[in-house]
Amino acid sequence: MNAQTTTLPLEIAPERAEQARAVDALIERAFGPGRYAKVSERVREGNRQRLDLSFTAVAAGEVVGAVRLWPVRIGAARGLFLGPIAVEGAWRKHGIGGDLVERALAAGGAAGEPFVLLVGDLPLFGPHGFEIVPRGRVILPGPVDPRRVLWRALRPGGLDGVAGQAHVPGDG
Ligand SMILES: CC(C)(COP(=O)(O)OP(=O)(O)OC[C@H]1O[C@@H](n2cnc3c(N)ncnc32)[C@H](O)[C@@H]1OP(=O)(O)O)[C@@H](O)C(=O)NCCC(=O)NCCS
Repeated sequence: MNAQTTTLPLEIAPERAEQARAVDALIERAFGPGRYAKVSERVREGNRQRLDLSFTAVAAGEVVGAVRLWPVRIGAARGLFLGPIAVEGAWRKHGIGGDLVERALAAGGAAGEPFVLLVGDLPLFGPHGFEIVPRGRVILPGPVDPRRVLWRALRPGGLDGVAGQAHVPGDG
């Protein structure tokens, strides 16, 4: 996306289990206590992160960026939920956030996943193909600004007929 990234000594790769604490700490710093959308937390609670589709950006051995993906169901349709995404303050505005999103989308598509849902800012995710979910088409487990409920297909027709309650797979 952003040509500057290629000049940074940075490696983007799937999240490894041993990076979990560093990623958690980065997320905590980036969002501050209680700043993530509570509703997103509910989609993650009791869920199993897709480590293979989650990515970290590492510079000089330190995790400076991360994006996490989770399985989700909307009605009967299985797909992915993206979030959180965070980049260390000093490393922002170099395209790392965008590159993390693109890596996750590419990996999700390659894994045959049909769509990605998230709660986030359209100016940030719109350039990566996300659109506002039509009002009422997805019911999240809590109150949320409908302009921040975004999704995109990972393949043609990936969102066809997708509608209903968003929940953790296996949740009924
Ligand atoms: C959001 C975040 C991950 C972006 O990381 P980054 O490495 O700076 O991302 P990029 O360099 O790829 O920049 C993405 C673009 O989105 C913009 N942007 C970043 N956050 C934005 C936001 N919340 N709303 C609107 N635009 C935003 C950036 O200004 C940049 O625009 P530009 O390309 O015109 O300069 C980082 O700012 C961060 O960790 N923020 C705190 C946590 C957070 O808010 N996460 C997202 C929740 S929706």
